[in-house]
Amino acid sequence: MQFENYIRDIQGFPKEGILFKDITPLLNNPEARTNCLKVLLHSLKNQKIDKVVGAESRGFFFGMLLAQELNAGFVPVRKPKKLPFDRISASYELEYGFDSLEMHTDAIKKGDRVLIHDDVLATGGTAKAVCELVEKLGGEIVQCNFLMELTFLNGREKIQEYPVFAALTY
Ligand code: PRP
Ligand code: MG
Repeated sequence: MQFENYIRDIQGFPKEGILFKDITPLLNNPEARTNCLKVLLHSLKNQKIDKVVGAESRGFFFGMLLAQELNAGFVPVRKPKKLPFDRISASYELEYGFDSLEMHTDAIKKGDRVLIHDDVLATGGTAKAVCELVEKLGGEIVQCNFLMELTFLNGREKIQEYPVFAALTY
C-alpha cells in the first residue's frame, strides 16, 4: 500500500500555473491513511508528545489521527475570528499581503512537548506562524511534520531551527 498513490495532482488549481496536491483520495481510503499515519509516527522514534498542533484546515485531518495514536492533546490553530476563547495570534506573509493564525491561550502549557502537523510545507509561512504561537506559550517543539514538502519553495529554511519531517517530497 503506497499512500502516495492516493495524492492526486490537479493542474491549474486554485489558479493557472499551480499544481495542486489533492489529499482527498487519501482521506477517503482507510488503508492508505493507516499507512501514511505509520510513516509519520515512525519519524518520531517514540519521543513523548504532549500536544499535537494542527493548522486549519488541512492540518486537522492527520493532526487529530496523530494525537489519538500518541495519546496527546490536539490543538487547532485557526484562521482569524474562529476561536471563541482568549487567543494569541501570529501573522505570516501571503503572495499579496498578510494573514494571521490564532490559538487559544490555554491550549499549551509551558514545557509541553509539541508536535506540529500540516499537510503541506510550501513557503513555510504557515508553519513558522504556528511555531511562533507554540513558543509564545512556552511549548517545546519536538518536530514539525508534513505529509508533503514542496522543496522548490524552500519552506524548510523558515523553520530550520526545528526538526522537520516530510513523508513525501516533490
Ligand atoms: C495550505 C496548506 C498549508 C499551507 C502551506 O493551506 O494546507 O497549510 O497552505 O503553505 P505555506 O508553507 O506557503 O504557508 P491553506 O492556507 O491553503 O488553507 P487550507 O489548509 O485551509 O486549505
Ligand atoms: Mg493549510
